[in-house]
Amino acid sequence: MRLHLLLLLFFCSRLGFCEEPDFLIKKCLSNRYTHQSCSKVFCQPWEKCVEGACMCKLPYLCPKSGSSVCSTSHRLFRNYCQLKTYECLHPETKFLINGTCEKKETFAVSLESGELPSEGIVRVKLVNGDEQAYLCNSKWSITEANVVCRHLGHAQGALHHRYANDSAIRMKAPHCLDVTCRGLESSLSECAFSKRADTHDETPAGVTCYLREVEPPSPDSFECVNGKFVSRSKTCDGINDCGDQSDELCCRACRPGGFHCTSDVCIPEDHRCDGEMDCILGDDENNCKGEESSETQDQGVHRGEVRDQEPARALNDNMDNERRRIKSLIPQITCGMRRNISTRRKRILGGKAAVKATRT
Ligand SMILES: *[C@@H]1O[C@H](CO)[C@@H](O)[C@H](O)[C@H]1NC(C)=O
Ligand SMILES: *[C@@H]1O[C@H](CO)[C@@H](O)[C@H](O)[C@H]1NC(C)=O
Ligand SMILES: *[C@@H]1O[C@H](CO)[C@@H](O)[C@H](O)[C@H]1NC(C)=O
Repeated sequence: MRLHLLLLLFFCSRLGFCEEPDFLIKKCLSNRYTHQSCSKVFCQPWEKCVEGACMCKLPYLCPKSGSSVCSTSHRLFRNYCQLKTYECLHPETKFLINGTCEKKETFAVSLESGELPSEGIVRVKLVNGDEQAYLCNSKWSITEANVVCRHLGHAQGALHHRYANDSAIRMKAPHCLDVTCRGLESSLSECAFSKRADTHDETPAGVTCYLREVEPPSPDSFECVNGKFVSRSKTCDGINDCGDQSDELCCRACRPGGFHCTSDVCIPEDHRCDGEMDCILGDDENNCKGEESSETQDQGVHRGEVRDQEPARALNDNMDNERRRIKSLIPQITCGMRRNISTRRKRILGGKAAVKATRT
């Protein structure tokens, strides 16, 4: 089935005369699944799954471990999970920084040289930085653009991770920062910022946030559950273009770049064998080469980092690592069903590393 679709896609794009095969499962779409649908995806670790929907957890259900974090309301929380459970109930309070609340700390995002306030070149001021900085275009994607737009109050995220003012884009941004988000963050301050020495050839990242009135949907567009329209060619590619993941949750197969979970969800190919279960049945972490996953070797290094270049210097603490840590501490139960934890990890039995669990 999957191969058949991919072959069809190949010939369609090569020869350009047949209609694109439909990756989407119509019947499934009527369920209007989103990132909050825990029959399809994991809830965030500060949420719980109740009858198929992710709900706010109460703070006392968070792990006690972890260090203090400060919110945008300058309130100190015991740990990141506690802040996120509070934010879940009080969305105006967002994450500011890992650490204690010092006076007057701010994190700011703004858009520059756009015709509309909802578009332009992205500028950020980090909590510990005193100057505004541009973001580098080279690793910039719709994933980060969606977070920027959400941060600025555009609930549906970004239309493009580009901004069309040529003269502004041709400008060089010698001191730009790289940013990597997972895609579901509510504040850009939760994303990982880093700085490379060799950014002299970079142009600044721009964004056009999604405004429904401005962008009439084209006939071939896909309507996300949140009401945003995205190109059908962006569905089932592992990338959360919608912002609510609804373009990735009802897929017969995935386009290149996506990994197909047996739950008919497409996740980014690079989430496969990364030590974190992304598919609800854990199939992205099965049959991984080697006993140890990248989890242990790759600790603290963000995926997608360009290697063999000047090493990037992290500018803030990577809260995605903290999210993973919290996720690893909560019981592995989804919708009342205990999932099989893969036998990939070495088990210690009687003080010796066990041979692979027998599978007879
Ligand atoms: C394009 O960007 C330049 C440089 O920032 C700015 O001066 C100009 O007003 C912008 N043009 C439009 C049409 O937004
Ligand atoms: C947050 O800061 C504390 C020190 O204040 C540090 O021990 C911890 O590792 C940091 N958390 C993350 C996710 O970097
Ligand atoms: C768990 O594993 C057992 C045996 O390997 C299998 O029969 C069962 O279907 C699995 N359950 C799930 C939910 O994958």
